[in-house]
Amino acid sequence: MGPFTCLIEMETPSILVVDDVRSNLELMEAVFMKEGFRVYTALGADAAIDLFTSNSIDLAVLDVMMPGVDGFELCTRLKDISGKRFFPVILLTALTDRQSKIKGIASGADDFISKPFDNSELIMKIKSLLKLKRLNEELDHSENIILTLAVAMEARDPYTKGHSTRVSKLSVDFVSFLGLPETDRKEMKKAGILHDIGKICLSESLLRKPGPLTKEEVEMIKTHAVLGEELCRPLVSMRKILPSIRYHHERWDGGGFPDGLGGEEIPLMARILAIVDSFDAMVSVRPYRDRRSVRVTLETMREEQHDGQWDSELLGYFLTMMWPLAEKGYKTDA
Ligand SMILES: [Fe+2]
Repeated sequence: MGPFTCLIEMETPSILVVDDVRSNLELMEAVFMKEGFRVYTALGADAAIDLFTSNSIDLAVLDVMMPGVDGFELCTRLKDISGKRFFPVILLTALTDRQSKIKGIASGADDFISKPFDNSELIMKIKSLLKLKRLNEELDHSENIILTLAVAMEARDPYTKGHSTRVSKLSVDFVSFLGLPETDRKEMKKAGILHDIGKICLSESLLRKPGPLTKEEVEMIKTHAVLGEELCRPLVSMRKILPSIRYHHERWDGGGFPDGLGGEEIPLMARILAIVDSFDAMVSVRPYRDRRSVRVTLETMREEQHDGQWDSELLGYFLTMMWPLAEKGYKTDA
């Protein structure tokens, strides 16, 4: 049980059952109600979609062979309506041939059961999919809390407000520009938001200090990279982004922190983050200087391209992506 488990309401699961044969519906309704589920029944796709859009339904059991819109098509529609939310669907079919299963998988079905069905097998499949759904929701919930806290934390300071959100968005754009896979985009979205989360452990007076910092204060601020990694380490869903958080201040020439990694020892995602983080910091207003224009910032980065701070090849790609945007009057909302 995770720390946020208690925040998820444990309601009676509700199941939508769709079959064009009324006696089948009644049979399944009786079986599911005996298990303590709330049951919604529909004789066809239109009624099913009406019920689905007007009630909170956790899972659907759909007969495949129905006149008009069949179970495959209905499955696809219900999945479309649920969007990114995980909504489990079991297809109930007399067909056991391979072709139907392939069609079912293509329509997004999560499991199959053959008619005449075995009650306990169907119930077992339903319970396991409901468990999976609940785990998904808990994970989303925990992630959202952490991401919201990160954004809220930096919003307290007018100089950092919006920084992580902008870094996240631009890093994701850069990952797409580089042609990296969808999984990298997803990781980068989280890493961008959380890269400075370790600052939550540092005092506000230190973070907001306008004047020059003492050597000790600089060292203190540097700890945010490791602190951020430690904060996120207990969360399984954040595991992949830990290196991005820890290493986003490493330098290509090995002169960065916390570990002084150099070159390709620094994970690619951290090198990407380092470039976008620097860009956003340079175009943002800071206590000690006004904002720089996007064009001036890009020119500065180009002049310093081979000075050892960044992966120069990667920075080349970043500049290639950004120049046309700057020409078109790209503005950050910093
Ligand atoms: Fe940072």
